[in-house]
Amino acid sequence: MTDSHSPCSGCSGRRDFLRTALTGAASIAALSALGPVNAISALVPRAAGGAVRYTLPAVDGVSIDSANEVILCRSHGEVFAFALSCPHQNTALKTMPKNAGFQCPRHKSKYLPNGTFVSGRATRNMDRLPITRDGVQIVVDPDVALASDLDPAKWAAALVKI
Ligand code: FES
Repeated sequence: MTDSHSPCSGCSGRRDFLRTALTGAASIAALSALGPVNAISALVPRAAGGAVRYTLPAVDGVSIDSANEVILCRSHGEVFAFALSCPHQNTALKTMPKNAGFQCPRHKSKYLPNGTFVSGRATRNMDRLPITRDGVQIVVDPDVALASDLDPAKWAAALVKI
């Protein structure tokens, strides 16, 4: 049996998979097929191992930084940063129409805009990334994926209220 934290046979690491699957404009087009998605980039190219900064989203919606594998989502006065990969077996997530949340094209798991698991094969919520606000900027650490089942307190706190 494969749990959500162990690699499945035939699966490469999350970064390897996403590097292959998500490159350039084609990846953004694929991600936007199911809903409105904006492509974003870090305000300053990321230093190795450093945090990334984005402009605070002005309205509700989803933005994807494929280079850094970050989903940025503003919904009902809160901003979240998520790992781009599904927590089940690392498939790149897609958005659902009308900012209804996210779904995984592989095993059909669905998640609310705040990353809460709704249905499907996954066994936990989407992995959030540490996020803070610095004036009109959002600061995210793409290297620290917070799993809701392993660290529920940090997962719950990983948001910015606006
Ligand atoms: S990879 Fe299985 S639900 Fe996403």
